[in-house]
Amino acid sequence: MLKVGLIGVGGISGAHIPAWDAMEDVELCALCDVRPERMEEYRDSKRCYTDLDTMLENEQLDILDICLPTYLHADTAIRVMDRGIHVLCEKPISLKMEDVKRVYDAAKRNRVCFMVAHVLRFWAEFELVKAIYEDGRYGKLLSGTMCRLNAWPLWSWDGWMSDEKRSGLVLYDLHVHDLDFLVYMLGKPNAITANRSLRADQDYMMATYTYDDFFITCEASWYAGRYPFSSSFRFQFEDAVVSFNQGVLVAYLRDGRVIKLMEQEGNSPDVLGLPDLGPYANEIRYFTDCVLAGKPADKIKPSELEEVIRLLDSFKK
Ligand SMILES: NC(=O)c1ccc[n+]([C@@H]2O[C@H](COP(=O)([O-])OP(=O)(O)OC[C@H]3O[C@@H](n4cnc5c(N)ncnc54)[C@H](O)[C@@H]3O)[C@@H](O)[C@H]2O)c1
Repeated sequence: MLKVGLIGVGGISGAHIPAWDAMEDVELCALCDVRPERMEEYRDSKRCYTDLDTMLENEQLDILDICLPTYLHADTAIRVMDRGIHVLCEKPISLKMEDVKRVYDAAKRNRVCFMVAHVLRFWAEFELVKAIYEDGRYGKLLSGTMCRLNAWPLWSWDGWMSDEKRSGLVLYDLHVHDLDFLVYMLGKPNAITANRSLRADQDYMMATYTYDDFFITCEASWYAGRYPFSSSFRFQFEDAVVSFNQGVLVAYLRDGRVIKLMEQEGNSPDVLGLPDLGPYANEIRYFTDCVLAGKPADKIKPSELEEVIRLLDSFKK
């Protein structure tokens, strides 16, 4: 039974903790957060710490799940891997390019698994559009658009998300999801055209990534006010538009058919063979299986993480 600890019991831990708890071959036995009240509801089933070193001294952990604010990811991951512990770390790996090599060097010298939890790579609808692109069932890709909108995040601990130096704002916190997926699915773009409107309480960006035969536009926002979260995409292929909107993935075929792709029964090539775990559970399962098999968690590659930071850095120029 693998022993797991989790540090950073904030917003996203609410998706990770139940996913670990649902697994039968691991035990999420310890939590750590500087705010003891965040761990109150788990005290019956887990040992709780307010300091990482104390947790590491008291627990024999195989895996640490890092759900800390972004600016703490790389140094914490290296510190923990240097004690021989495998690390799953929330996105993004860092705001700094040089951290990618530092982190992967630490994983290599300690012979442990490291993975950034880029959850869209484990999200059934996103996996399916990637499969559609790769098998060409609807012809060649002509264009795409990806959209991720939210309100300015006022809820983060210590206001760290509102601090560009600690979170990277919309680019590194929100758009990084879609950009990582684009680099995963389509590789490096040839060119980027980017626009951004940044003020003290709102941040909006739009970018066009140009490839040889198609282009992809992306939007991301933290609007002022209580704008609701949404994530959507639309990929235009020669024979169909594949649209993900309000959680539903639909193919609008040029012959007039409209297909709800995730609802199809049987052995249609449109159906994805992923277990119904939910994306966070899928990524955690994948990482744990890599640890158990003693192989690198290389679905997410350091070269891809570096490419994403390089593209995000180009917004600053
Ligand atoms: N994959 C996703 O869908 C997704 C969604 C939201 C956030 N995230 C990422 O997850 C990370 C955390 O985001 P969040 O929204 O949960 O933030 P948050 O502010 O809600 O939570 C961070 C937690 O870390 C704790 N903390 C801070 N410093 C600490 C320390 N030194 N030791 C122990 N605990 C400490 C805070 O008390 C807080 O509870 C970010 O990097 C963010 O980009 C990912």
